[in-house]
Amino acid sequence: PFTAKCHRSGTTVEVDGEHTLLQALLDAGIDVDYSCEGGVCGTCVLPLLAGDVIHEDEFLDEDEREERITVCVSRGIGEIELDV
Ligand code: FES
Repeated sequence: PFTAKCHRSGTTVEVDGEHTLLQALLDAGIDVDYSCEGGVCGTCVLPLLAGDVIHEDEFLDEDEREERITVCVSRGIGEIELDV
């Protein structure tokens, strides 16, 4: 489990092992565009403000991974902060 603090919406989302970060954001009423849900298309990429991420996508390059997260497949460690 990990937590995603969503700065623009003022919401903090808890993500358990059964759900993706994308699902948790949508369930919290945060509007996130998505398409493939497989880490390939890049539609769901969001700006990452802080925190450590296990990147599971095949879309972002190493530099982009410093400040973005593909929320349909990647997960945070502890608490991450998103600009959404
Ligand atoms: Fe395609 Fe997340 S929806 S990469």
